[in-house]
Parts: sequence; structure tokens; C-alpha cells
Amino acid sequence: MIKESLQTSINGQINAELYSAYLYASMEQYFASLKLKGFANWMHVQVQEESAHAIRFANYINDNSGRVIFTAIDAPPVEWDSPLQVFEEVYKHEQKVTSLINGLVQIARQENDDGGLKMLEWFVKEQVEEEENAEEIVNMLKTMDGTEEALASMDRKLAGRVFVDPNA
Ligand code: FEO
Repeated sequence: MIKESLQTSINGQINAELYSAYLYASMEQYFASLKLKGFANWMHVQVQEESAHAIRFANYINDNSGRVIFTAIDAPPVEWDSPLQVFEEVYKHEQKVTSLINGLVQIARQENDDGGLKMLEWFVKEQVEEEENAEEIVNMLKTMDGTEEALASMDRKLAGRVFVDPNA
């Protein structure tokens, strides 16, 4: 049976993961409006990943005889000035999510919940990847020359991203 404090915090994290999906869906639509299909594809995969994170947390609560509670999801921003500004926000957002995950680890430690800690290990590793991916794209956009051709080339690169369900 999951401890009340961890259940409450994981339910909060489910909301944060669903907000992340909503934020990236909004970014996907921003890129779609710019006809940058590869950038939009990258965000679409990100939406799927965040949904998978929420499901993974929900599965953990259900597997431990708890109860998943959904709460309202905040509206995401809808406009950005440039692809670079979008990815700077992605990077900042993922750093925030990392600190939320670290907070969950602390709660699981306080509760001496070994199962919870084991489950959270996956998320700790995942956040390293999430931050790396975002930072890499921020750096590419910063060093890229500002021509249409450079942006188109990056768009082709991001079109290749494919979703792999981590819960499968
Ligand atoms: Fe669910 Fe992007 O962290």
C-alpha cells in the first residue's frame, strides 16, 4: 500500500507531467504554424513521452493499491519569438521537472520507501536525458547561422525523431 504523502506528491507529479505534455503540444502547434514540420514532430514525440511519464506514475499508484486523482491543468503559453526561445524554455522547464523528481526522491527516502525509490530511479535517469536533449538543441540553434537553409536543415534533422514507448 502506497504511503499517503508519496501518493499525494505523485498525484501532483502526474499533473506536472500532463502540463508538460500540454506545454509541448502548444509548442508543436507553434511550429506547425511556422510550417516547421520537423520541429513540430520533435514536439509531438515529446508530448507522447510526457503522457507516458504520467501513465508510468499512475501505474505505480495503482500497482500499490492507491488512487490516482486528476486535477486541472494550467493553460500553456501559446506564442514564442523564435525556435531558440522555445527550446530555451524547454530546457528551463526540464530543469524544473528534475527538481520536482528530486523532491519525490526525498519524500520516498523520508518514508523509507524502497519500492518508491526504485521506481524513481528511472525518472532520475530520464531527466538527465531530457535535459541533455534540450540543451543540445539550444546549442545547435545558438551556433547555427540565421539563414533559411540552416533552419530547414535542422528541421529535416528533427523530423527523424521517433517515439519509443518507455512503458511497453
Ligand atoms: Fe516528464 Fe520531460 O519530463
